[in-house]
Amino acid sequence: MAFLHRSFVPLFLLFCLLGCSAWAKVELTMQESVEVYMGDSAQIPCHYSFTDANSEPRFVMIQWFVRDGSSSRMRIFYGDGNDHMVDNQTDYSGRIEVTLDQQGTQLTIQNVQLSDEREFFCQVNGLAAGSAEGKTHLKVFARPEAPVIEGVQTGISVTNDLPSKVASCEARNGFPKPNITWYNNGIPLMPSPGYVNVLILVTRESSGFYSVQSTLEYKVVKEDKDAHFSCEVSFFVPGAIRTMESNSINITIHYPTTMVELWKESPQGLVKEGDTVELRCHGDGNPPPPFIFNREQDQDVELESSGDMLILSPVSRKDSGIYQCRPQDTDGYSDVKGEMQLTVHYLDPAVVVPKDSEVMVKGEDLTATCNALSSLKTNTVWYKDGKQVGKGNTLHLQDTTFETTGEYICEVTVPSLPSLHTSGSVHIIVQGSPQLMGVDQEVQLEEATGRMVNLSCEAQGYPLPSITWNIFGSQNWHEVVSKSNEHTAQSVVSVKVTSDISAFCNVSNDMGTEVKAFSIKAIPRVTTTAPFSPAEGSGVIIVVIILCLLLLAILGSVLYFLHKKGKIPCGRSGKQEITKEKTTKDDIVVEMKTNTKNEDAVLLKAVNGDKKAPSDQ
Ligand SMILES: *[C@@H]1O[C@H](CO)[C@@H](O)[C@H](O)[C@H]1NC(C)=O
Ligand SMILES: *[C@@H]1O[C@H](CO)[C@@H](O)[C@H](O)[C@H]1NC(C)=O
Ligand SMILES: *[C@@H]1O[C@H](CO)[C@@H](O)[C@H](O)[C@H]1NC(C)=O
Ligand SMILES: *[C@@H]1O[C@H](CO)[C@@H](O)[C@H](O)[C@H]1NC(C)=O
Ligand SMILES: *[C@@H]1O[C@H](CO)[C@@H](O)[C@H](O)[C@H]1NC(C)=O
Repeated sequence: MAFLHRSFVPLFLLFCLLGCSAWAKVELTMQESVEVYMGDSAQIPCHYSFTDANSEPRFVMIQWFVRDGSSSRMRIFYGDGNDHMVDNQTDYSGRIEVTLDQQGTQLTIQNVQLSDEREFFCQVNGLAAGSAEGKTHLKVFARPEAPVIEGVQTGISVTNDLPSKVASCEARNGFPKPNITWYNNGIPLMPSPGYVNVLILVTRESSGFYSVQSTLEYKVVKEDKDAHFSCEVSFFVPGAIRTMESNSINITIHYPTTMVELWKESPQGLVKEGDTVELRCHGDGNPPPPFIFNREQDQDVELESSGDMLILSPVSRKDSGIYQCRPQDTDGYSDVKGEMQLTVHYLDPAVVVPKDSEVMVKGEDLTATCNALSSLKTNTVWYKDGKQVGKGNTLHLQDTTFETTGEYICEVTVPSLPSLHTSGSVHIIVQGSPQLMGVDQEVQLEEATGRMVNLSCEAQGYPLPSITWNIFGSQNWHEVVSKSNEHTAQSVVSVKVTSDISAFCNVSNDMGTEVKAFSIKAIPRVTTTAPFSPAEGSGVIIVVIILCLLLLAILGSVLYFLHKKGKIPCGRSGKQEITKEKTTKDDIVVEMKTNTKNEDAVLLKAVNGDKKAPSDQ
């Protein structure tokens, strides 16, 4: 090539000497620039015409040059009427094609590279017909890769005085140099001193591409906590500008706490003694600061807490009061605090008056009270043996009986806080001397000799009465029943009637003694027939019976009259139970409830047909 180049210069001078004398002219037009993507092929046309149409030259020489380096030029093609030749050993040997015709020539460069961004010269020489030269700037373009954004991972504080690095963005391998623009929520961020700084680092890769790295420094405000940042790369393409956007990122912003809230997390509703209370503190700062808890009256006493939670367990009424929380590092916002009132409700054990137990005498009145101190309204109900016996905190017991005895339980509940309840009790004991049950204190009866008779004695009283028997006239007796409950004792003795019997049931306790007397008349068994003949005897018997009945009726009327007049103070009349002969049973209970023994005895004697008078009444 060096040889070609050197041989060309004297040749050119020769043509010039020949041509210049004719003053003919060539008009040559070329585009100022041709733009093409790297890797594509570029066409650079070069049009020319000779001004003097009459002197159309017979010889036209076309040459293409490229500017090599800053000033020197290098031929890459030569052609004339006979010869076409791509210069050997240039950057373009084998990569270019040149077409020639009457109007012009066109240089085609295949597989354009970044290094082809040069000026290409087209030179036309028609010797005497004139010569001309033009140039076209070949511009090569390569799209950069999509921009990659990276936000800072650490939190950025709004209290920083200067803009802080927020993110960086890189667009690699573009040509020519691309630009990077920043966006905050889609709004472009223009550099602005003190608020937005954009630091750009451009790298020329060894391959010739440009990589651009942009760092955004930004003065964050609290509102940016939800902001999305993105970057956009803009780059030239043939005839246009294109853009590509990055992903958007969010950043962590740190801002101080300006407001704090304190509330009860649990339990729900009213708090009672023994509960575990959780108070939670929450501020509007980021990151959430550690909190200090204290009570209003003890500003300097820091309560032990776990993070944003104050746990009081178990609470008592002393824990009632105003609680406060505030961020630990208050830097400037020292009056920021949350506050709440905690009320711990309580119900003290019930106090019952009289205490424990109370002994009273039958017939007395008593008022018992049951009180339980509470922070809330209470409700009191009295129970005895599982049945409700009263409402309210006083219980009136009037005209007490032995049945009044028992345990009285008062239950105190808090309607607004049902889990609060307590109870108390009092044992009421009604004391009294023994009281025999049944109508009579004296029992008279008759029984056939040899029979067993049951004598029953039952009495109420407190303390529980003891029953003892004194039986005269029979050795043959034993107790068949002995039972008792709280205030009733019962004893039954079975006595063999051998002769007339006097029995005393002696019922006694500390308060007194009662005696129930039994007298049993022994009736000898009928073993012989009647002493008189039935024929004559029957008439006599009938007459005797009628007379007796009449006598009895008169006597009864007289006695009734006297009784009404009060002449016989203890006179009583009652039913009689008479043991009949030939009953299947051997032992019969016989109770005779009368003092009018003589008349009954007469009747009985008559019925039994026994003429012997009873031995002893
Ligand atoms: C260029 O090289 C080709 C073959 O490689 C050869 O035929 C030709 O003569 C060479 N031309 C010049 C000017 O050296
Ligand atoms: C890049 O920015 C420069 C300076 O603002 C501007 O002249 C150029 O046209 C921009 N290039 C693109 C591709 O936007
Ligand atoms: C960014 O946004 C995503 C989804 O909106 C969210 O999950 C993530 O926590 C945010 N990151 C930061 C640092 O705010
Ligand atoms: C009854 O018992 C009491 C005490 O045990 C005694 O003092 C009293 O004399 C007794 N009475 C009779 C009638 O047995
Ligand atoms: C006396 O009482 C006992 C025990 O209750 C009973 O077995 C017996 O039959 C009774 N006797 C009479 C005569 O009622």
